Amino acid sequence: MHRRCKRRRPQRAPPEPDLVRIRDLVYQVAGIFHPDNKLRLLQDRCGRRMRELKVQSLREYLECLTIRPIRQSELIALLNEITIGETCFFRNQPQLDALRRIVLPNILQIKSKLPLRRLRIWSAGCSTGEEPYTLRMLQIEEAGGTLKDWVVEILATDLNERSLAHAKAAVYGNYSTRNLTTAWRQKYFIPQGDQFQVNPLARSNISFSRLNLSDDTRMTFMKGMDVIFCCNVLIYFDLASKRRVIQHFFNNLLPHGYLFLGHSESLYGVSEDFRLVHLPGATAYVKGERALPGGKSI
Ligand SMILES: C[S@@+](CC[C@H](N)C(=O)[O-])C[C@H]1O[C@@H](n2cnc3c(N)ncnc32)[C@H](O)[C@@H]1O
Repeated sequence: MHRRCKRRRPQRAPPEPDLVRIRDLVYQVAGIFHPDNKLRLLQDRCGRRMRELKVQSLREYLECLTIRPIRQSELIALLNEITIGETCFFRNQPQLDALRRIVLPNILQIKSKLPLRRLRIWSAGCSTGEEPYTLRMLQIEEAGGTLKDWVVEILATDLNERSLAHAKAAVYGNYSTRNLTTAWRQKYFIPQGDQFQVNPLARSNISFSRLNLSDDTRMTFMKGMDVIFCCNVLIYFDLASKRRVIQHFFNNLLPHGYLFLGHSESLYGVSEDFRLVHLPGATAYVKGERALPGGKSI
């Protein structure tokens, strides 16, 4: 008689406890969660830092992150390694068209009754700066039209210091600028060898700063926003961290304010506070109840 033997999957070794502790620390500090199947990636990033510090074991590296005097700067250095900054100019054209043709005119109409003609746009998780510079270029295009006499402040924040340094230098290669027409390159960039630097006009009126979206204290002080772009950032967060960040965005937006997420992101199951609006080729979330001309709401 044959005994039926079940084929067993090879057992994966349990993750190293010190790596799990580092995972928990990263999650606590930045809201970024590495599930078990992404732990190798985290280990690889820790490995880079360990080589730099000439540290031999994860246990010793964990000490660098928690009890040694370098702990704060080391945590920042590790977060610089972990955070992924894929981006480009004009990443989501339908979203930008909707901002220009529908969302901004709608906000201006509401705000025109107020004495102060000022708009605040926040690029949260701006990476190397392509998104806020794109927004600034659109603002320049509209400066003589829809935005005539309006002061527009663009705030651009990210957790990654290296990305922010790149953003401030504003020098980009062909990959980042691939969506730009020759006319836009000529209008807003200065060639620098085989790269391009954003020109001084398009670099003005943007303030870059380091901000951790999981830092509740700092997030409380980001009030008075008309539009928030937080595109392709929350994909690295687990549900609990997403909910906290989205609640801050809700509190930080003015009553008519809009939130834009990345192409494949949504607030489904995350928050019911916002109203989803369908714009041509894009969606947005609006805080207030007002119907949106040109867009369909559900
Ligand atoms: C894929 S990029 C998105 C860039 C841009 N928004 C876009 O859509 O093209 C994600 C950015 O989110 C940033 N990020 C990740 N976690 C963050 C956190 N806790 N606080 C602030 N920024 C964070 C990363 O540093 C990275 O630059």
